[in-house]
Amino acid sequence: MHRSCTLSRVRKLGVLAAGGVALLGSVGCSDVLSSSDTTRLEVPEGEALAGVAEATQAQSDARGGLSPSERAIVERFREGREIFRFETFGDQAFWGGQLGLHRAIAGAENGGIGAGVSPATALALGLKVDSEALPRSLQKQLRRGQVDLDDPATTLALLKLNAVVGLTGFFDDQGQIESLGIQCALCHSNVDDSFAPGIGRRLDGWPSRDLDVGTIISVAPDLSVFTGLLGASDADVRSVLTSWGPGKFDAFMHLDGKTARPDGKPAAVLIPPLFGLQGVGLMTWNGFSGLNAWVPLVINLEMFGQGIFSDRRLANAAQFPIAAANGFSRIRSTPDLVTPKLAPLLTYVESIETPPAPEGSFDADAAERGEVLFTGKARCSNCHVPPLYTLPGFNSVPATAIGIDSFQADRSPNLGYRPPPLRGVFTRQKGGFFHDGRFASVNDVVAHFNAQFDLQLAPEEASDLAEFVKSL
Ligand code: HEC
Ligand code: HEC
Repeated sequence: MHRSCTLSRVRKLGVLAAGGVALLGSVGCSDVLSSSDTTRLEVPEGEALAGVAEATQAQSDARGGLSPSERAIVERFREGREIFRFETFGDQAFWGGQLGLHRAIAGAENGGIGAGVSPATALALGLKVDSEALPRSLQKQLRRGQVDLDDPATTLALLKLNAVVGLTGFFDDQGQIESLGIQCALCHSNVDDSFAPGIGRRLDGWPSRDLDVGTIISVAPDLSVFTGLLGASDADVRSVLTSWGPGKFDAFMHLDGKTARPDGKPAAVLIPPLFGLQGVGLMTWNGFSGLNAWVPLVINLEMFGQGIFSDRRLANAAQFPIAAANGFSRIRSTPDLVTPKLAPLLTYVESIETPPAPEGSFDADAAERGEVLFTGKARCSNCHVPPLYTLPGFNSVPATAIGIDSFQADRSPNLGYRPPPLRGVFTRQKGGFFHDGRFASVNDVVAHFNAQFDLQLAPEEASDLAEFVKSL
């Protein structure tokens, strides 16, 4: 490090001559600077300018400042975090306007319909409360048990405080709820339970494996959008939605019309974590598309935000009959509330740090031995290449390569499964492993591959390998 610093400073000194010395005097390579008897060299003008730029950079680094590009990344990251947590992209026109979800949450006593959704019910459905959005006074009352968690009016108060992770209530002048929108954070954030179970500080990128999205959607009074798209009865749509279960969602149901697998089990898949996605080619369990193509799809076609979106593969009526019939391959909303938000949102999503596996969640010595197996005898790194832990490039493998059925793979234009980037594995224990959670633990995954690939791992080796995966 120091060596390259020294060399580059020497080069710069040569270019800038005496004038540059003062400029660079404080950058920490002063040994070179002070000892150099610099003389003016003849250099082409372009190179001299490059030298000035580097010197300016060095100066701003010396002051602890950031270059304009570095600052832009930090700003985009922060803006993206706000979008991830709070932006509805106008999707309240769908969740509130069309489905009337806010009315079911409010309940008849608060201007809606039915019994309403109390905080106790909301927490039981896996919704999370951001404790940092709660005023001190309310935190105290909550601690003393003075807040009625069985009253839907309390849920509305929490929505007014913007404290329900991933949901935004829209209220009229009289304080009555008039609509409801959803955000990325609904499914892709958790809380640390530091205040109480389900109430704590936000953990962005952690999959919400408690969240029962299907049941939440199913309480909406008007599901005619889905009955229309799927050509199914209201009762059937509701029973499909409630069949998904916690931590799962089916992003393809209203594109391909498949509501169950051939074995009759729900077609929904687990919500994945958003860690270590930088450098990862394809997204989703079945490698539907890259990050920059998938996120606009999510906003326009899953959250029903109002934007502009294209993916002509969705015009393929053989694979996506419903998407093709409804023109989902080309969405044009005016105004476009999505496209201007993409760059910051994507910067944020691919920058979320993987939380380190907590001490005690894995055996460190075993993990060390397991790492050797991962890249060696067990051949895991054939598909999970460190440090990405997926295949660099077009990361899609056929279902036969991992020895499972191809139902979910066949719902992607790429007809495969994507080796998931194995990061933050401890955040996704709940709900199990593989797209449908068919393996309850990492050890079960290892046992599957041990048999599938005939790896001949001894029991201790299999367990060491699992400990390594848990440490990621
Ligand atoms: C209703 C729940 C829900 C919401 C809201 C949601 N997602 Fe997702 N997201 C999922 C599910 C489920 C998957 C997995 C889909 C699949 O593989 O079929 C997924 C997959 C992803 C992936 C791929 C990750 C990977 O490793 O494969 C990214 C990236 C992503 N979502 C980003 C976002 C962003 C950004 C938003 C907000 C604009 C968002 N999601 C909103 C449920 C949701
Ligand atoms: C041929 C490529 C391939 C090889 C080799 C491979 N994997 Fe995978 N792995 C995958 C794919 C694809 C999936 C996703 C399956 C799905 O979507 O249901 C997966 C899923 C997993 C998961 C579950 C991740 C999650 O979030 O649910 C773990 C853990 C895992 N692999 C570990 C391993 C280990 C350990 C080995 C070595 C014994 C290994 N893999 C070898 C392709 C591979």
